Amino acid sequence: MEVKNMKIVVIHGQNHKGSTCMIAQELADKICKKCENKAEIKEYFLPKDFDEPCRGCCTCFKNDLTDCPHYTKLEPLEKAVLEADLIIMESPVYVYHATGQMMSFLDHFATWWVVHRPRAEMTKKQAVAISTAAGGGMKSTTKDMADSLEMWGISKVYKYGVGVQAISPEEIPQRILKKIHKKTDKLSDAVCKNAGKCKMNRRAKKWFYLMRFAHKHFPPMEPDYSYWENKGWHKKMRPWKGGC
Ligand SMILES: Cc1cc2nc3c(=O)[nH]c(=O)nc-3n(C[C@H](O)[C@H](O)[C@H](O)COP(=O)(O)O)c2cc1C
Repeated sequence: MEVKNMKIVVIHGQNHKGSTCMIAQELADKICKKCENKAEIKEYFLPKDFDEPCRGCCTCFKNDLTDCPHYTKLEPLEKAVLEADLIIMESPVYVYHATGQMMSFLDHFATWWVVHRPRAEMTKKQAVAISTAAGGGMKSTTKDMADSLEMWGISKVYKYGVGVQAISPEEIPQRILKKIHKKTDKLSDAVCKNAGKCKMNRRAKKWFYLMRFAHKHFPPMEPDYSYWENKGWHKKMRPWKGGC
């Protein structure tokens, strides 16, 4: 399938260009080629491009994300994520989980979770969560990132964790490299095939309807309740209809 003008944002969970970064860039490049090189790729490295841990002030919950004390630094990354058709998030496994800087970045988007104030535009995006480890912890690490991507309401979230038996790309055994190239081929095909589809993934959709029920039967939690009301989600409108 021919896909054109796809906007890709890559959020790297570390500053260095190691094995995980290599896989993310390989995938982005393959998708770009399938779009006749018309895809636009933006990359951000953490903590170089965003280095603030959440202060726990809950200003985003009580007011708005734009009132976050770190918003000036966060805004360019937020804008790039909101504009992207595809979000690639990657992290090496550090003690069985995503890097601290990746988790700190994700903490800033707690209000985007479907149980609070989800962004309708997420329903037309796809995402890939990628991790590498020397041996173990890929599943919990890709899940660390996929939890947010799914609960933001993204239509399709792919997960890829691979044990590379290495601490740098040059050390990765040939047979594992071959496996990686095959996987990025398959992932790029899937992303291009599903481009432009508009829906909420099943996990987020279930939570959407649970929260809608809670809004109707329990005392309203503000500002979430009014956000949903203004979007018409308590009536017939849905994020995957209004956002596409
Ligand atoms: C602080 C730290 C913690 C790590 N924890 C694990 C771990 O729990 N399990 C594992 O298999 N590898 C672990 N590793 C190894 C890396 O996950 C692995 O080498 C990975 O492929 C590095 O990716 P990169 O080249 O993108 O940095 C750790 C490495 C570091 C620096």
